[in-house]
Amino acid sequence: MKQKIDPWKSFEIKDYNKIMKDFGVEKIDLKKLQKKNIYFTRGLVFGHKDLQKILEAKKKKKPFAMMTGLMPSGKFHLGHKVIADLMIYFQELGAECYVAVADIESYLTRDISLEEARKAAIEEYLANYVALGLDLKKTKFYFQSSGSKEYMNLSKFVSKKTTFNELKSIYGDLTPEKVTSVFIQVADILHPQLSENGGSKPVVVPVGVDQLPHINLTRDIANRMKSNFVLPSATFIKIISGLKGGKMSSSDPNSAIFLSDSPAEVERKIKKYAFSGGRATLKEHQEKGGNPDIDVSFQYLKFFFEPNDEKLKEIEEKYRKGELLTGQLKEYTIKKINSFLKQHQKKLGRAKKKVKRYIK
Ligand code: TRP
Repeated sequence: MKQKIDPWKSFEIKDYNKIMKDFGVEKIDLKKLQKKNIYFTRGLVFGHKDLQKILEAKKKKKPFAMMTGLMPSGKFHLGHKVIADLMIYFQELGAECYVAVADIESYLTRDISLEEARKAAIEEYLANYVALGLDLKKTKFYFQSSGSKEYMNLSKFVSKKTTFNELKSIYGDLTPEKVTSVFIQVADILHPQLSENGGSKPVVVPVGVDQLPHINLTRDIANRMKSNFVLPSATFIKIISGLKGGKMSSSDPNSAIFLSDSPAEVERKIKKYAFSGGRATLKEHQEKGGNPDIDVSFQYLKFFFEPNDEKLKEIEEKYRKGELLTGQLKEYTIKKINSFLKQHQKKLGRAKKKVKRYIK
């Protein structure tokens, strides 16, 4: 049976190979990437669709774009950072950048008011994007509730190119609100190719694996439209484990590291909550070794805080052998996170001012 993905619910994925088969996701050929990034090399980005279109456009010096969206709910955490870093990755590769604030979707599906969404989008998300390196002057940051007329029209026209049965088979449980959100997202993804934005071009959409159904539907709809849309490309990110092993969520402060956390908060959260792959007793740990594959601190080092491959490998080996203890691994992780956050929070202060000027 095909695995179902519900973009509005949290779920677990045991087998990414099955997802790739069921949803037609390709493996990334690292040799083809002109620019490396640890999300790719260490497998957090587990697959893509049509990424070659982007790489070819870059090679041939033809225009290409990056488009993605955010649900403005709560505080900015490590999961959000991955998407931001990928936006910046493609921007630095030369992509025109489009970023949608999904304020209509968050109102319809999470009951967040447009005002709240606007505030969170600007003060949390946009400010963090800028602090992480997004160039605002080269980014079209917009709200679903106030896009152009051509975009608004597109969000309705796309409904003509699908059927209720198709939507039901993709999304299962549907509501009118979800249907509306889907059509707007399809328009988000296709609108960089509208004539007002320079027409057809390859567009890459970096998203979490939960957004896969939207990507596939958008490609199918684009295929059925008369306009010459290039089928959008995408890169897919694995679900990042929360501190306790479950989901990382803005609404549970103990499930995630927020980019605004203080050093003491980071220390408390890692020590108290970070799920450990270590053994129950010191003796057992030293005899049998720990398991970095399920250890949240190790995972965070791997995907975020230890860019040095050699050093990461050394930590992994020592942990497996039981030479490195959970407490020591946690101490190191806390140190690495806090040194990143210290720098980041300095930049965030400046970014907030920049964003204020940009938005007015
Ligand atoms: N649905 C996305 C989410 O839940 C947000 C979103 C809206 C989006 N429009 C988009 C993502 C376009 C990628 C591309 O996070």
